[in-house]
Amino acid sequence: MSTNPTHTRRYVLAARPATTTGPLEDGVLRFEDDAPVAALHDGQVLVKVGWLSLDVATRGWMNDVRNYLPPAPLGEAMRALGAGVVTDSQHPGFTAGDRVSGLLGWQEDAVVDGSALRKIPDGVPPQAALHVLGISGQTAWFGLHDIGRPHAGETVVVTAAAGAVGSIAVQLAVAAGARVIGVAGTAGKCAQVRELGAADCVNYREQDVEATIAELAPDRVDVVFDNVGGAILDALLPQLAVNARVVLCGAVSRYAGSGPVPLRNWFHLLPNRVRMEGFIYLDHQDRFDVAEADLLPRVRRGELRCQEHVIDGLKAAPDGIRLLLTGTNNGKVLVKLDQD
Ligand SMILES: NC(=O)c1ccc[n+]([C@@H]2O[C@H](COP(=O)([O-])OP(=O)(O)OC[C@H]3O[C@@H](n4cnc5c(N)ncnc54)[C@H](OP(=O)(O)O)[C@@H]3O)[C@@H](O)[C@H]2O)c1
Repeated sequence: MSTNPTHTRRYVLAARPATTTGPLEDGVLRFEDDAPVAALHDGQVLVKVGWLSLDVATRGWMNDVRNYLPPAPLGEAMRALGAGVVTDSQHPGFTAGDRVSGLLGWQEDAVVDGSALRKIPDGVPPQAALHVLGISGQTAWFGLHDIGRPHAGETVVVTAAAGAVGSIAVQLAVAAGARVIGVAGTAGKCAQVRELGAADCVNYREQDVEATIAELAPDRVDVVFDNVGGAILDALLPQLAVNARVVLCGAVSRYAGSGPVPLRNWFHLLPNRVRMEGFIYLDHQDRFDVAEADLLPRVRRGELRCQEHVIDGLKAAPDGIRLLLTGTNNGKVLVKLDQD
């Protein structure tokens, strides 16, 4: 007889937000403390969720608008990456006890297709599958590897440089031999970015980004790895070198709800033959193993670090989204589920 749980605790997406950007409103998410757990069908796996990844994109998935993924469905556990342990399996690739990561959702017990899960490599903590070896590391790796392509001696600017993706992009660019300048929102975050190997860091709340980058990079900037968009991206465009690459990774300034900000300095792209390109890490799932083969040894050697900002317990998960949108997180926002 199965000892699988019949009920679980979860947050469902209860209503679409009133506006597509801006703070997370009350009532959009609803906590349920005895949601039914479905019986397993062929190919499915039951996972006890230990950790959730909170991401800036979560705010966008709540809207009913065109995006790179369909809107998160109403009435279901809110979409999120998670890491946990298999407790039952109807998939030939998994057995109870396997440590896995994938789209597990904001819930304590998840029934998911085994084909959408990855095993967590031995010897690494489960939450690493959500940052250095997961979405943050994969995003930094594909953005730099495919678009930024920094060479030794080039100058790379990374925005939201103390954040999860940004801090890994800083470390990978430094390892490639580039001179890295971060942009971050506090003096403390700038100090962290320098500790990761960046030559310098601009505090955009206290310094003029355009003027400071012009001073710090008199030979101009070869790669911008941009996580924020808006006014900060605009301030970097006049500093681009000939044949510079701008990696459009994220637009967190837009999610925060200040409305679209015009790019006044777009013209600099043309005479400098700049390539500016967006990407979505999920498009590269067929190369996740390639990225992991490069990232995992660096993680094991302690060369790739990610600051963790841990929220305790599923119930507090919405607070993590608020942190990301106000810039008050310090590192990768994770929820550690209380499984008592
Ligand atoms: N393309 C992809 O496939 C992909 C995949 C994953 C993530 N992303 C994007 O990568 C970016 C970083 O994600 P993350 O998970 O690593 O988050 P994060 O950088 O750890 O956290 C977001 C940070 O953005 C900064 N920020 C917030 N509001 C801002 C504003 N109005 N202006 C400037 N900076 C602001 C804050 O840092 P400061 O205190 O320094 O301002 C905040 O800590 C996001 O834009 C996300 O959407 C893209």
